[in-house]
Amino acid sequence: MAFSFNHQIRFNNSHEFNNPFGRERSSFNDTMRANLIQFVRKIQAINIQFTCFDFDQFDFSGLTETDFVYCDPPYLISLGTYNDGKRGFTGWSEMQECKLLKILENLHQRHIRFALSNVLQHKGKENDILTNWANANNYLKTNYLRADYSNSNYQPSVCEKNASVEVLITNYEIEKPKTLFD
Ligand SMILES: C[S@@+](CC[C@H](N)C(=O)[O-])C[C@H]1O[C@@H](n2cnc3c(N)ncnc32)[C@H](O)[C@@H]1O
Repeated sequence: MAFSFNHQIRFNNSHEFNNPFGRERSSFNDTMRANLIQFVRKIQAINIQFTCFDFDQFDFSGLTETDFVYCDPPYLISLGTYNDGKRGFTGWSEMQECKLLKILENLHQRHIRFALSNVLQHKGKENDILTNWANANNYLKTNYLRADYSNSNYQPSVCEKNASVEVLITNYEIEKPKTLFD
């Protein structure tokens, strides 16, 4: 991964690593080394458990009101190497999207806070499922990552029609920045 193109991990249908070499772009450098050491020290110092399986196999039943759930799923309206349904992965379709939103609704009913990263628009496409869900449930807050998108009537200008409208949807009010990274 350190030397692969854009530091990405990608597999073929036989689950063999097949990302190209990131010639003159990617390398194992001092910054990566320092970050890695810091990361390893941290995870050795805290009580943490990593799991690796489909989100709908995860057992959310043990979570309580003091827990926080952050979801960064594939975007339904864009294509990544992890959501094209190839390379041995399930892919990400409307079915997965709806299943995840149901899980989040259930968390809210149990007073567990969550945040969901996503895009509402991308390259002229719209995620109607997500937009309708965010509008239909008044406990949800849509936090736009760019201030000029925070108007709900936002329409990309002609030169920006390929722009992504990135959001963080939460079931609680984010204290200060309505706009997260401006
Ligand atoms: C937007 S990326 C998240 C990137 C991650 N936050 C990071 O910083 O590396 C979406 C991730 O969802 C994973 N994914 C795809 N389908 C999944 C599923 N059914 N269950 C759990 N994870 C899935 C992909 O492998 C990918 O790593």
